[in-house]
Amino acid sequence: MSARLLPGGPVAESILSEVSDRVRVLRDKGVTPALATILVGDDDASAGYIRIKQRQAADLGFVSPHAHLPADTTQAELERVIAEFSADSAVHGLLVQHPVPGHLDYDVALAAMDPDKDVDGMHPVNMGRLALGLPGPLPCTPAGIEALLAFHDIPVAGREVVILGRGATLGRPLAMLLAQKRPTANAAVTVVHTGVKDWPRYTQRAEILIAAAGVPGIIQPEHVRPGSTVIGGGVRYEGRRLLPDVDESCAEVAGAITPRVGGVGPTTVAMLFRNAITAAERASS
Ligand SMILES: NC(=O)c1ccc[n+]([C@@H]2O[C@H](COP(=O)([O-])OP(=O)(O)OC[C@H]3O[C@@H](n4cnc5c(N)ncnc54)[C@H](OP(=O)(O)O)[C@@H]3O)[C@@H](O)[C@H]2O)c1
Repeated sequence: MSARLLPGGPVAESILSEVSDRVRVLRDKGVTPALATILVGDDDASAGYIRIKQRQAADLGFVSPHAHLPADTTQAELERVIAEFSADSAVHGLLVQHPVPGHLDYDVALAAMDPDKDVDGMHPVNMGRLALGLPGPLPCTPAGIEALLAFHDIPVAGREVVILGRGATLGRPLAMLLAQKRPTANAAVTVVHTGVKDWPRYTQRAEILIAAAGVPGIIQPEHVRPGSTVIGGGVRYEGRRLLPDVDESCAEVAGAITPRVGGVGPTTVAMLFRNAITAAERASS
């Protein structure tokens, strides 16, 4: 292995330390930042993710009111609870743990949320703000990737970035974000997908290649430009086993690469708290 590793842990630590300072400032003004969470059903993994976020919220000085709804909750009931948290001025941020049980429509439920409280940054209004370059909560994984590149001093501006995948969570918003006119973005971004059969032709010339497909091992050394930066965003879980898009052998060709575990993931969670504290500051200003 020759590539420099780009861990997400130190990036997350630095973001969370800034969040913690901002929480202290708000608390000193008498405002307790609140990040509410909603869990529907009893899926063990989802319950575990919520517990981790609640523990981290408490460590940072947030309170986190929680609604745990039964697995047979109706769409109307879920939307009622979302609307209730949205209308509560003491709640600044809100997240609905994904996935919700199959009979519920997550996207429709999300639209019932006050976009300013959407800490995942996935509300249609926030996607629109991103497209227009307006301020608003940013989608966490794309924002985490931009922060990771900046933290590790990987220049992005003016460089050729290729993203494999145009999904709504990652590839599409990331393309919008990295094309924005900002020192840590400002790139020439190309997005490839199943409609581009010869996608390796594009990835082979990328100075920064970002995998966002969710297809284990889809990126192999022959798809990577020697010396380039490779970011593994796409993952699939088989049970508890994490299967990344980027094969580990790519580290033989790349100049810098995210580790198999602990790359993009920690930055995603940190961005959620950055969105939450920003929402709390805005609401109390
Ligand atoms: N690390 C993290 O914290 C984190 C957070 C969020 C999401 N993720 C991961 O990010 C990945 C993407 O999620 P998403 O919701 O944005 O995307 P998605 O809706 O799952 O879409 C996947 C994209 O990859 C493309 N793709 C799939 N197979 C391909 C192939 N064989 N050749 C070329 N392109 C292919 C698809 O092309 P078409 O559009 O043509 O179908 C699609 O655009 C998932 O693995 C998800 O788990 C990671």
